[in-house]
Amino acid sequence: MSEPAGSSAPAVIAALGAAVPPRRMTNADWGQYVHTSDEWIRSRTGIEERRVAGDDESTATLATRAAERCLAAARFPSDRLRWVLVSTDTPEMWNPATACFVQAAIGAVNAVALDITGGCSGFVAALGLAESRARLGDPVLLIGCEVLSKAMDWSDRSTAVLFGDGAGAALVLPAGDAQGLSVTSLIARTDGRDADILGKPYGGTKNPLTPELVASGHHHQIVMHGQYVFRNAVVHMTEAAYAALARAGLTLGDIDWIVPHQANQRILDAVAERLKVEATRVYSNVARFANTGSASIGIALVEAIQRGLLERGQHLLTVAFGSGFSWAASVLTCTAVPPVEADWGTG
Ligand code: UT7
Repeated sequence: MSEPAGSSAPAVIAALGAAVPPRRMTNADWGQYVHTSDEWIRSRTGIEERRVAGDDESTATLATRAAERCLAAARFPSDRLRWVLVSTDTPEMWNPATACFVQAAIGAVNAVALDITGGCSGFVAALGLAESRARLGDPVLLIGCEVLSKAMDWSDRSTAVLFGDGAGAALVLPAGDAQGLSVTSLIARTDGRDADILGKPYGGTKNPLTPELVASGHHHQIVMHGQYVFRNAVVHMTEAAYAALARAGLTLGDIDWIVPHQANQRILDAVAERLKVEATRVYSNVARFANTGSASIGIALVEAIQRGLLERGQHLLTVAFGSGFSWAASVLTCTAVPPVEADWGTG
């Protein structure tokens, strides 16, 4: 991301919020729907369970819960927001943007509301957009949210078992207004030549929904060439990590925590191995939440902070890869541990 003229101090993530649905679904529960096993899912992905939205939950309601938690943690009035950005590949509806429903629900009456469709790396890429607006003085609320359970083919065992629902929100403010996780560097890349490798091709204007397609039950099909995705995720997450570090003028030795997109434990382990970083410095909660797409880094940051893992002066590296193909990474410097609140759906 280029830096706008006239602003030097990077913007900060001043607070974070997270929300997940109360309904827990274990690997064994998946056996009711497809021919699979806990052993297969656990050994291939590290996933043990995921959260699944209920009938009364949707992308906008989950994003709103995370947004409310974030603003409450910051004690930040919603009418001061200038932007509400929702990063999602599972929008509330075709139109209008999911962010419009969130804006109304939280009363962000002075904000522009926009969605970003950036795959699993959308949250980090959108953080770059949020940061560039905040540098210019605009308070931004960025929410990564996915409800893949309502947008996937439950009869396809090769994809359905990988995902979970959730939302993570970040309040991004000008550096002069707050402390928190300062966005020291950020890189984001896309290679659209691999756009057909991972995605959800039906229901758009290229492949519109027809009665025949809906009757086939495959209108929610997710296309994924798993092993190709795996290899590219490892290569590009590694590259992105080094690129963000170089831009920050830091090395891996300066990084206290890597907080990656929670795609799959084997991908996280392979990235850690390539970076020659101990797995204990790579935050993982994929076992409990599965792959929550653009929500995963926000959720992981909230959880890591609630567990007391972050300290002032530390550097974090976030890194993500997803459909597009797209990948992104950022170095965040903790000038103060930001306040966080979460609705883990347990109370
Ligand atoms: O943000 C990016 C999102 N995507 C990813 O992160 C996915 C990256 N890819 C991967 O993590 C792995 O490729 C998977 C976990 C998706 C699959 O693991 P794999 O070792 O690459 O398995 P595979 O696709 O080669 O399938 C091996 C076998 C196949 O059976 P046959 O043809 O050998 O008889 C599949 O049909 O495993 C079968 N299989 C399953 N078996 C039980 C596929 N899904 C399942 C399942 N349960 N859920």
